[in-house]
Order: sequence, then C-alpha cells, then structure tokens
Amino acid sequence: MVSITKIEDVQKVLNSLRVNDKKTGFVPTMGALHPGHISLISKSVERGDNTVCSIFVNPTQFNDSADFEKYPRTLENDLALLAKNGCNVVFMPSVEEMYPGGSTLREHYDLGFIETILEGRFRPGHFQGVCQVVERLLRIVQPDELFLGQKDLQQILVIKKMIELKNIQTDVIICETLREPSGLASSSRNARLSEMQKEQAAIIYRMLQYCRENLYNRSLEELSAYAQQHILGNGFDKIDYFSFHNAATLAPVELWDGEEKLSALFAGYIGGVRLIDNMFMN
Ligand code: PAF
Repeated sequence: MVSITKIEDVQKVLNSLRVNDKKTGFVPTMGALHPGHISLISKSVERGDNTVCSIFVNPTQFNDSADFEKYPRTLENDLALLAKNGCNVVFMPSVEEMYPGGSTLREHYDLGFIETILEGRFRPGHFQGVCQVVERLLRIVQPDELFLGQKDLQQILVIKKMIELKNIQTDVIICETLREPSGLASSSRNARLSEMQKEQAAIIYRMLQYCRENLYNRSLEELSAYAQQHILGNGFDKIDYFSFHNAATLAPVELWDGEEKLSALFAGYIGGVRLIDNMFMN
C-alpha cells in the first residue's frame, strides 16, 4: 500500500495501475475508520478493483466548527487497517492541497429538493460541502466505482445527483450499513460515546426494527411518536427527526398507501454526539 499526499503523485500512481482493464474502486472517508469503512474497502477488493481510499476531514461540510475540531483523528490506526484489508493507495491531502485558493465554496450545486429536508434542514450548507469535496476527489482519482454506505442514505442521493449534474463517469455501489452486535450502526462518532451510551444508542436500531415490524398495524404518526418517546427515554438529549420518507426520493410520507416503498430516517443527540441511521421498511 502506498500513502500519498499530493494530487500530482496520486494521479501518476493511479495511471500506472490502470492497466489490463483493471478497474479503480474508490472509498472516500474522513478517517477514524471503523468496520463500516472496512466493509466498503473489502467490497472494492472483492470486485477485483485497484482500491483507493482517501482520508480527508473536509472543513467545508461542517456547519459547526466545534464538530470539525472534535472529529476523531486516528491516522496511524487507519493506515494499519487499510494495509491489512487490501487497500492499494491511500490519498491523504492537506486542506491547502485540496483547496489551493481557499476552501470557500465557489460553486453552488443545484441539488433541488433533496438538500432541503432532513440533514439539509438541520445542517445548512453541509451537502454543498460534500459535493465540493467529492467532485474534486472524483476528478483526481477518476474511479470506475465509488463505494458508499447506506447509513448515509441522503448523502448517497446527493452524490448521485452531483455525479449526474457534472456528467461524471463513475458508478455508485451502495453497501449495507454495518452494525455492532447491539444493532448500533458503525460510525466514527461512536468513538466519542461511553460504553453505556453505546448500549443506550442501540435503541435507534430497535425502534427502526419496531417500525418495520409494525408498519401494517399502526399509523406512521403513531410509530414515529412511539419511537421518539423510547429514544428520548434511553439517554438521548434531543431528536432532530424520526420520520418516514419515500425510499427512492426521500419525499416525506405522512399518510401511507400501504404500497409505496418507505425508509425511516433518524438523527439525534446522545451525550452531545449527533448520530444518524435509517432503515428500509418494506
Ligand atoms: O461520508 C463521509 O465520510 C464524507 O461525507 C465523505 C463522503 C468522505 C466526504 O467528505
């Protein structure tokens, strides 16, 4: 495995690897790698791709600077994990390398409805920052396949939209959310929780499952109220949302016709740490 910090160098190495029709698989990350990231790396390795991972804590997607400062940074451990799991190239640029003229957003991505709801509503500007960095990374790495985790369902839809707007030739491969034995979704932010808070946070998964199991017996309003009450009763300080949406477009669904494909999505705070999760319902 080689680790590279300069754009020019990573492009040279990737060009030399693009032989015999070998595909390039790309896993963008902000580091603090956990089993969820490793499952994306493994998927890319499994598909026979040259596997590239980026580690870059992107300042432009944090609408809260304290959250950016507190974001866990575990580089040594990350590199050891990547080497062990078959990653070929790690790209870890500095902020100056990624944004030579400064990181102020120069371009507005016309993402439409998808960035107005859920995360878009609670983290204004977040998805513009995600698009800015992911477009830049895709133009540098030029992967055939981009691996993204289902935990960030809305991010997947946003990135797909940006890829379409920018006419980028990369396929998006969606990988299932990896969970701890308790059901808690793997996340870099879990590192900021105590063992007890991690146990408590597994209530999110239990409530998502409860909703799936009771989808045909109770109204969506009842399910959401029940879930929120139990999440708040289990150590959470605040809920941004626990709501039901069309699984493909994320359009909110309040009255369900019994047929439409639904996802339930959650965001909330425990011990000052913001967690998100989601589940397909039917
Ligand atoms: O999901 C993430 O970790 C980030 O949003 C991403 C895609 C690496 C862009 O910074």
